[in-house]
Amino acid sequence: MDFKNLILEIADGVATVTVNRPKALNALNSETVRELDRAFAGIEADPEVGAVILTGAGNKAFVAGADIAVMQSCDPVAAREMALLAQGVLARIESGPKPVIAAVNGYALGGGCELAMSCDLRIAAESARLGQPEINLGIIPGWGGTQRLARLIGKGRALELLFTGDMIAARDAERIGLVNRVTSDGELMEEATKLARKIAAKASIALRLIKDAVHQGQEMDLARANALEADRFALCFSTEDQKEGMTAFLEKRTPKFRGR
Ligand code: COA
Repeated sequence: MDFKNLILEIADGVATVTVNRPKALNALNSETVRELDRAFAGIEADPEVGAVILTGAGNKAFVAGADIAVMQSCDPVAAREMALLAQGVLARIESGPKPVIAAVNGYALGGGCELAMSCDLRIAAESARLGQPEINLGIIPGWGGTQRLARLIGKGRALELLFTGDMIAARDAERIGLVNRVTSDGELMEEATKLARKIAAKASIALRLIKDAVHQGQEMDLARANALEADRFALCFSTEDQKEGMTAFLEKRTPKFRGR
């Protein structure tokens, strides 16, 4: 696949998508958002890919937000179109079939923080800074930030970040649950790759069903969510991986999952 503002590499079952506009700190214009959509569509359809890493080029930024130079001249119609386009792509990442890890290698601000929150897991380099600074531009987040941030870290903490526009350090993001873990700057990609490979070796249909149950279930009451889980659980028993996993356990050997 050919991209102007992304790099897509696939190795050992892991796809790495790198947003590549380092001169603008990897800020996302609509062209880049559309490229992300195309990259993830390809990844979804690629049976060789078991897990995905999303990161930013250079050592300064993951993604420093939506492109403010483009947004500056938006009218309400263009602003809404951009918000809906990006919300759709982030929803694709969030609800897609493969586990996605954000490797947050620097500033993850505004749309960058929203992009990271649409991923399943977030690993941050120690020097990364995260936040929703839209309030400082006289606007609010438009790519799901008011919604996913509150769901991820709770309403009170989310409102504080949204009201102040403050950036927080990776360690503080870890403390409040905005990122799963923090690594030294030099070890970020190694750690993300290790985790992605570990996940990619699991039963891929079950991984997909976990994602589906967690994401859909979060928006339901407990009884309906548990019913959804029971259905997804039952579906596992139609797979070869369930038979292999349980047989391997009883035979005291490592299972070989085939994603079938
Ligand atoms: N949109 C467009 N361009 C951006 C950008 C964004 N979100 N974030 C950074 N850039 C550009 C800068 O304009 C600058 O371009 P220039 O070299 O042509 O002047 C370049 O990236 C480097 O940024 P700079 O501000 O010089 O780096 P810094 O180290 O001084 O500051 C930040 C880094 C991230 C603190 C600062 O760039 C910033 O606040 N960016 C905007 C963050 C934001 O509000 N995001 C939410 C948008 S909804």
